[in-house]
Amino acid sequence: MRLLIFLLFFGTLTAEEPRLRIEIFDTPEELAEACASKIARLIQTKKNCVLGLATGNTPIPSYRALANKVAQTDLSEVVTFNLDEYIGLAPEDPRSFHSFMETHLFSSLLESPARPRGFKRSNLHIPEGKQKAEEYEAAIARLGPIDLQILGIGTNGHIGFAEPGSPFESKTSVVQLSENTRRDNQPAFGSDPVPEFAITMGISTILQAKEILLLATGSKKAEIIRQMLTQPISPWIPATAVRLHPNATLFLDREAASLLGSLHAKD
Ligand code: PGA
Repeated sequence: MRLLIFLLFFGTLTAEEPRLRIEIFDTPEELAEACASKIARLIQTKKNCVLGLATGNTPIPSYRALANKVAQTDLSEVVTFNLDEYIGLAPEDPRSFHSFMETHLFSSLLESPARPRGFKRSNLHIPEGKQKAEEYEAAIARLGPIDLQILGIGTNGHIGFAEPGSPFESKTSVVQLSENTRRDNQPAFGSDPVPEFAITMGISTILQAKEILLLATGSKKAEIIRQMLTQPISPWIPATAVRLHPNATLFLDREAASLLGSLHAKD
């Protein structure tokens, strides 16, 4: 079951703030199905569509569902831009976001003799430490705008790796990861240290997308989702910037939405 809400921000909505759509799903699986359908619909209806992709545990089920939905679709014109990547990991490192994308989405959909209408590797973009941040930003400007940007949210409110304090005018740049983020991401690194730096799209880069879809699942995200929606818009909670976007939607499961109290349900 899906509950659709237009957030009125519990009285904190200012006249300048666009209305944010929030959809709450009973389970992460239902959320993934809806997210995958939305992306698939865009790919199937928009020529040369440009997708902004996120890494993290949250979008994995959505990518799995998406791979099934577009198995027969021509992906040769689809262009993608990922949000971020660690500095200091080779793309082949299994903990890199290059490897993540390969494992969870690209491997099954890349162009091959068996799949001539698959993703063209040259159309897939993931920032890299050795590449200049300005070049990544210029590539987005040249091939974009991004039609749909998928976002996760960190427990500290980061989007991409734009950490608390990142100015809303920020563009793609190399940033120092917060202790909170390094702690959250430690499980993927076992006993090795989590890299201290990353390259990430900035808040301003993210807000230039034509549409934003932020995903959050699980009780671990409930508190930051509450803050994102009820606290003043500020760089100290980077995800609050999404409230400034004219075409943004949040997909939450019940657990991530559990601290929102009574919202104004549309249906
Ligand atoms: P997660 O990460 O999906 O693994 O929770 C989200 C993020 O840090 O943006």
